[in-house]
Amino acid sequence: MKKPVEIAVEALDESEAKAELARLAERVAEADRAYYEADSPVMTDAEYDRLRTRNAAIEARFPSLARPDSPTHRVGAAPAGGFRKLRHREPMISLDNVLTPAEFSEFVGRARRFLGLDPSRALPMVAEPKIDGLSISLTYEDGRFVSGATRGDGIEGEDVTANLKTMKAVPQRLHGGAPSFIEIRGEVYMTKTDFLALNEAQEKAGEKVFANPRNAAAGSLRQLDPSITASRRLSFFAYAMGAASDQVADTHWGYLGRLRGWGFTVNPLSKHVRDEDEAGAFQEKMAGERATLGYDIDGVVYKIDDLALQRRLGSVGRAPRWAVAWKFPAEQAITKLEDILIQVGRTGALTPVAQLTPVNVGGVLVSRASLHNEDEIERKDIRIGDWVRIQRAGDVIPQVLGVIAERRPKGTKRFVFPDTCPICGSRAVRETDEAVRRCTGGLICAAQAVERLRHFVSRGAFDIEGLGEKTIAEFHTDGLLKSPVDIFSLPARESEIAKREGWGETSARNLSNAIEARRRVPLARFIYALGIRRIGEANARLLARHYGSYRRFAAAMRAASDLDSAARHALDSILGIGPAIVEELAAFFAEPRNVATLEALEREVTIEDAESSRGESSPLSGKTIVFTGTLATMTRAEAKARAEALGAKVTDSVSRATDLLVAGTDPGSKARKAADLEVRTIDEEEWRKLAGF
Ligand code: IVH
Repeated sequence: MKKPVEIAVEALDESEAKAELARLAERVAEADRAYYEADSPVMTDAEYDRLRTRNAAIEARFPSLARPDSPTHRVGAAPAGGFRKLRHREPMISLDNVLTPAEFSEFVGRARRFLGLDPSRALPMVAEPKIDGLSISLTYEDGRFVSGATRGDGIEGEDVTANLKTMKAVPQRLHGGAPSFIEIRGEVYMTKTDFLALNEAQEKAGEKVFANPRNAAAGSLRQLDPSITASRRLSFFAYAMGAASDQVADTHWGYLGRLRGWGFTVNPLSKHVRDEDEAGAFQEKMAGERATLGYDIDGVVYKIDDLALQRRLGSVGRAPRWAVAWKFPAEQAITKLEDILIQVGRTGALTPVAQLTPVNVGGVLVSRASLHNEDEIERKDIRIGDWVRIQRAGDVIPQVLGVIAERRPKGTKRFVFPDTCPICGSRAVRETDEAVRRCTGGLICAAQAVERLRHFVSRGAFDIEGLGEKTIAEFHTDGLLKSPVDIFSLPARESEIAKREGWGETSARNLSNAIEARRRVPLARFIYALGIRRIGEANARLLARHYGSYRRFAAAMRAASDLDSAARHALDSILGIGPAIVEELAAFFAEPRNVATLEALEREVTIEDAESSRGESSPLSGKTIVFTGTLATMTRAEAKARAEALGAKVTDSVSRATDLLVAGTDPGSKARKAADLEVRTIDEEEWRKLAGF
């Protein structure tokens, strides 16, 4: 077949653009079908990337022509040479941690209170060793393995299907009786023996060695060439479910049995525990056996066994109310503090970092650790040259706990925290009540500018590959990148970039492609990319879901910089957005330079509306509800959580703004007030129907 002549994006007129978008949607869909369903790709990854990039570039020029079946609405475009993105049918959430029996009791107590469980009723759980690997979601259709992805941001992950197909522990077909659609979650990990053997082989071959089994597992799975994955020995334990077309069990324990029946390996140490005491005993047993196991574990996961209770408990933010990770105590070591470095973050915060004589802490070589802040160094009188105790727990940055006083060498001096920025020399000041000293250099501070740019292109934000720290710093120094807006003029300077040292035409083109592919950005990512203090990914998502579109968000934020405005009050009342966050948002939007940057950015990128949260289509979404009286079938906490999950706002008192009063037994004065104000009042039974119990 003759290849159609492609007109340059800039030269397309509207009708040509329309036809071209239709052609691209068709071609990409065909490629996806071939790749995912027939497992026989019809084009190279590079060609696939090029089509998607072209599609995104045309849509950026003609936003109104974007088709409902556009490839940009499907899974996220893969950066040149990277993995495609896959969206999880049901989000992959994470777990909260506890460290002590008291914290574990609190977790159990909270769940019991939420459910209003009678104290005499048992709450059995399943205990599973917590393996430190990487979590994976596997999708099976009609019993056949169709795709698998890493956790990613919990909403979409990286498509590692081809690599998972090389793993023996991932069944290609499920034995008997699987639902027609099911997502199965578990952990890919590497045993200690396989890890040591791999590192030995790597070292012999002059290749990089891995710091720990977790990194080795992740590095082996996230290989663009599946034959490398195939040559590595990876293991897999299945332990959780995602979306499924049918209910497959009533209890988690039963579910583990089904998993085994389908052909998965379930950790044989998993145990059904009847109560808190049995859980405590299991925790101690595992802590004792930890060192003798064939793989690293960093704790035990406890899951409430009854799946109906799990559903009622639901989740808060990124963690379920029905499961918890009880971690083992952190590992410690003693080493020498060689120096204290001061780093400058994107908000200008000066953070002290300990430079250490490298030391092995529970299998990981540690050479840097956090010193928290100025006061901490002062309080613990930590000096350069001291011997310090450090601690490492899970994935968090190692911490300096304190000084070994008797080993202090002679002649050390108290550490004086700098009062100027080590990068730009501006004054660094501490505001009252703030633990942190900040550089006042703002826009002139290169460290802040570089950190802001890095944040802007980072994975949870614009996710532009190929713009690493080093490149950003160089481009910044040479004036190519001053503000995030400049990123989008880099493609126009491709030939100039290609001539730079260490570049070349291919890498310059890859960079342009990676940037063009990100001219459409979901609202939550855009908000997060702005790098406003206290607006992490979770808060950005909350705001995106609340406002829906960039236009509404921006208008509200501008209005909210006025303290007494309705917009400010509305912002104050978004659940999960506290006053400190509101302050930061308002301050950001009150700064004219920020507003100007936003306007310039809007000309460069298309900000996609937020996906309607589950709640938006529910009859309760946007409604203000008041509960009164006693509910017989659920606690107030459960009722409130469900209402909020469905998009409603729950308040304590009845006013004209109340849409609905749910009255249990003995409702009292609120019911009278509701009647006076003609607020719709319903009983518990009607509430259960409305909320879908
Ligand atoms: S359950 C809502 N079970 O720990 C269910 N996670 O800290 C979420 N992990 O992301 C996960 N062993 O990577 C679960 N038996 C187990 C696990 C386990 C290890 C990991 C997993 C998860 C992380 C959360």
